[in-house]
Amino acid sequence: MSQGWVEVCGVDDIDEEDLIRFDHDGRTFAVYRSSDGGYYATDGLCTHEQIHLADGLVMDEIIECPKHNGRFNYKTGEAMGAPVCVNLKTYPAKVEAGTVFIAIS
Ligand code: FES
Repeated sequence: MSQGWVEVCGVDDIDEEDLIRFDHDGRTFAVYRSSDGGYYATDGLCTHEQIHLADGLVMDEIIECPKHNGRFNYKTGEAMGAPVCVNLKTYPAKVEAGTVFIAIS
């Protein structure tokens, strides 16, 4: 069931090429700001061993997991190779009046 748009933070609360952890309703998300000013959201836990991706490293469109260095494309959720093989779920993100929102379903 769709829960619709949820407020995450101000646009300046995420640095360029970085991400933050966002917890909502018992779930954890990762919200990213790309170098070209776009905002993106994925599930916040690595699909390999459920480590928080917010502690990882953003490189271009890639988030690297801090535990075993598994990589995902954070725009598409695609797992980029071993040890991760299950894609991340992605969520729409938007900015309105200086605030970042994600659509949680
Ligand atoms: S927990 Fe993320 S790559 Fe292993």
